[in-house]
Amino acid sequence: MKIDKVLFSEAEIRECVRRLAGQIERDYAESTELLCVGVLKGCFVFMADIIRALSRDVTVNFMEVSSYGDSTVGGELKILKDLTVDIKGRDVLIIEDIIDSGRTISKLREELLSRGPASLKLCAMFDKPARREVECDADYIGLEVPDVFVVGYGLDYAEKYRNLPYLAEIKAED
Ligand code: IMP
Ligand code: MG
Repeated sequence: MKIDKVLFSEAEIRECVRRLAGQIERDYAESTELLCVGVLKGCFVFMADIIRALSRDVTVNFMEVSSYGDSTVGGELKILKDLTVDIKGRDVLIIEDIIDSGRTISKLREELLSRGPASLKLCAMFDKPARREVECDADYIGLEVPDVFVVGYGLDYAEKYRNLPYLAEIKAED
């Protein structure tokens, strides 16, 4: 696989993160505590940027999940790493890298809702709406990407390319 073209530059991403942070800050102005839950591993670059773009207090925690199983029977959420805090009664904001089919995030939402947070919202840096299989609307969406495989800004292909500061499309080498 090789990098084919840059879809969003470092500067475009920075500008978008600033916009998202502004929206989040306004919406949570009345909230005493905002707990950002990052979904590993893809979230880590975006998470680092978005929390530093917020001027309010935040706390952070992380989860690592994978969804598996036959879609016709709903599939299951496999928790590879769970939160280390109780979210009951707290304002929780999930931080995701990208929403693709929507499977992972919709199951994660259900799981977190069952733990009784005061509120639960979702912020995704990238969105690929053309690939959606499960209805899933994020409260905060950064940039829309076409139906192609993308890497960089935390996203990987076979664990590579997470360190690219931009978002790029990759293609098979011919
Ligand atoms: P979903 O359950 O299909 O929405 O899958 C979401 C997860 O798959 C994301 O959180 C990413 O970690 C990964 N993913 C989806 N599309 C891409 C992509 O184009 N590049 C890299 N990772 C992706
Ligand atoms: Mg992810």
